[in-house]
Amino acid sequence: MRGRQERGELMLDPSLVKMGQNIARSLLAERHERSWSLSSHPAHPKSASPWTLQQRECEDGQTVPVISSLALGRPGAESRTGILRSSPFIARDTISFWICGHRGHPDQPPHKNNFVRLRDSQTGKELRRAYPPRNDRAIKVEWTLSSMKGRQVELEVIDGDSGPSFAWLAITRLDPPAAQVDSFAPSAAHGGLLEGLARVLLVSAPADLRDQLKAFLPSLPATSPTLPTSKERSRLEKVIKKRVGSFELAQPRMENGKALFKTHCASCHQVAGEGALLGPQLDGIGARGAARLTEDILDPNRNVDAHFFLTTLTLKNGTSTAGFVRGESGEVILLVDAMGKEYRIEKSSISASDTLARSLMPSSFEHLLEEDEFHDLLGWLLSMRNQ
Ligand code: HEC
Repeated sequence: MRGRQERGELMLDPSLVKMGQNIARSLLAERHERSWSLSSHPAHPKSASPWTLQQRECEDGQTVPVISSLALGRPGAESRTGILRSSPFIARDTISFWICGHRGHPDQPPHKNNFVRLRDSQTGKELRRAYPPRNDRAIKVEWTLSSMKGRQVELEVIDGDSGPSFAWLAITRLDPPAAQVDSFAPSAAHGGLLEGLARVLLVSAPADLRDQLKAFLPSLPATSPTLPTSKERSRLEKVIKKRVGSFELAQPRMENGKALFKTHCASCHQVAGEGALLGPQLDGIGARGAARLTEDILDPNRNVDAHFFLTTLTLKNGTSTAGFVRGESGEVILLVDAMGKEYRIEKSSISASDTLARSLMPSSFEHLLEEDEFHDLLGWLLSMRNQ
């Protein structure tokens, strides 16, 4: 154990992992009660959330906290996009707020991807819109709403600019009491925490929690999986259907299922604390149901997540390292190899990078497991529902 730690492997104390899981669950639960909700921008569904709190100056000289989409200090801060929505409130005569930020590089004509708008909560119709002033200092915007007084409305702050600079906006000093900078503070802190937790728990959390945390993982460069031919696709489809169908009549032998897991799967997956964490932990995976699990096992390339693409980095000194990119921070790439060992690699030291857009999980279980063995394994996995 000591030897492994000295080699710098990613060793997480099981009690810490458990604590992380509990914190993530309570943060996720609380988020729904806040007055601001976050969602991804439809044009950039994979971006990590940009929203954070900062101090900025206003045109009248005051320096105040603003809700900003410039997630300073986080990977890809400027490029991040997203939508921040207030909880609904009743329109009064006027509403006002202060806005700063940008609409693309100052040398370029302004784009319309970053703005704040007021929407009718019932119909979703846009009622008013304001663009950032192309300035770091905030200006005041005031809307007269007498014609729509009494209607239920909500404010939306939209960052749809995925560019590398002049790509953020921020809002502050809001007048509708329903949407305040203060009420945003906890969710902002939560966002950062959840991002960290999502990374740590990427493999070491039960399936349902991992699914919820996926939204907080930093986005990775899009590489689409190398898809099998349509002929192979429809063949696999048939095999999966057949196995799911015959499972309904099967009487799985649980002990045998458990043993098969140990033989074929535990080298990469952990259940109830046993096995490796090269692939995701499978506690609670039974909740997915027989059809989806059969798909996961027999066609691992179908739902593969970019965080599990195998990347080989060739360094300028001639050596190379293969593993999963688990994140980036500044000039460093975080790579975890097949043994769980963590590497921090300076981007400047890399001469070539090659990503294999396929799951590391073998796609041979259709042949490795006889039909009755498959049923035993599936039956046992389906019993993993508690947690
Ligand atoms: C060589 C390592 C390896 C082996 C062996 C392996 N897996 Fe996987 N498995 C992975 C990786 C990596 C992923 C995540 C990437 C992906 O979705 O393909 C994964 C994903 C999965 C998922 C989906 C999990 C999720 O949260 O989406 C299931 C279910 C699964 N494996 C079950 C099994 C079972 C059952 C076996 C044994 C029959 C097995 N795996 C064998 C590496 C492996």
